[in-house]
Amino acid sequence: MKKNPLLGRDVISMRDFGPAEIRAILDRCRGFENNRKPLLQGKVLANLFFEPSTRTRLSFDSAMKRLGGATIGFSDSISTSISKGESLWDTIRVAEGYCDVMVIRHPAEGSARLAAEATRLPVINGGDGSNQHPTQTLLDLYTLKQRTGRIEGLKVAFVGDLKYGRTVHSLIRSLSHFDARLWLVSPTSLCLPEDFLEDLRDSGTEHHIVDELAAVPDDVDVLYLTRIQKERFVDAIEYERVRNAYQVNPENVARFGAKLTLMHPLPRLNEVHAALDQHPGAAWFDQAHNGVIVRQALLALCLGAA
Ligand code: CP
Repeated sequence: MKKNPLLGRDVISMRDFGPAEIRAILDRCRGFENNRKPLLQGKVLANLFFEPSTRTRLSFDSAMKRLGGATIGFSDSISTSISKGESLWDTIRVAEGYCDVMVIRHPAEGSARLAAEATRLPVINGGDGSNQHPTQTLLDLYTLKQRTGRIEGLKVAFVGDLKYGRTVHSLIRSLSHFDARLWLVSPTSLCLPEDFLEDLRDSGTEHHIVDELAAVPDDVDVLYLTRIQKERFVDAIEYERVRNAYQVNPENVARFGAKLTLMHPLPRLNEVHAALDQHPGAAWFDQAHNGVIVRQALLALCLGAA
């Protein structure tokens, strides 16, 4: 039996995971595709969501229950004592006594790391502001492997909000371990932030910064589409200026061919035409559903039960 790559660890940032660990986690996920073993019976997951979520919260909930465990938590801070002024630190210290593992989603960058410092329990980052969304990346990589048979040597175009998109930040970092070639398609105001570009330069990852879908070559393997996130903008006028920057439809993806994989972390607005649900490469609902498999593996690994 190979070493458990998550035993005694938190899952906060994809910066914390090298290629061997990522491969080891993805290998373990396969065993959860048809898991019926109550590996986490008697264990409790706290889902601490300070920001809206459908997929991350519900799939962690489902994953824990499919493993025989129980869940507690909240889906906004209004109903918690945070609204009375309690600190995040104290909230985590208190929740520590009620559960065995925590998932936290919070609008502030660095909040998941702070939570991990506040408790001895494993903490999983369900998205911290515009920073990281590591469990989304693991389910994206799992879906990519299902779809393309590999995660190495892929040509991937990221399209949309690369500045605030935490799913993009986590996935780009991970793909840089696997000889990816990247096209970064965004309006200038929503470019990938400098620290993530620096990671790409340091790792020698080929990347092209462009502002038009037309600049992406026909033979890319993956288009990773993202929503322009209104909730992250300080300036409403700037949001209006870029909100319709990219609208992908059957006509403008036809040149990429039937082998293209089309991904989106969801939720989506008008950046994806509804007719693309019929495209053979449309993977967004697979991504969402694979979240349960991948998150079962993560919970079991973090709790030493896999
Ligand atoms: N992809 C994702 O994180 O979706 P939710 O915001 O619904 O959790």
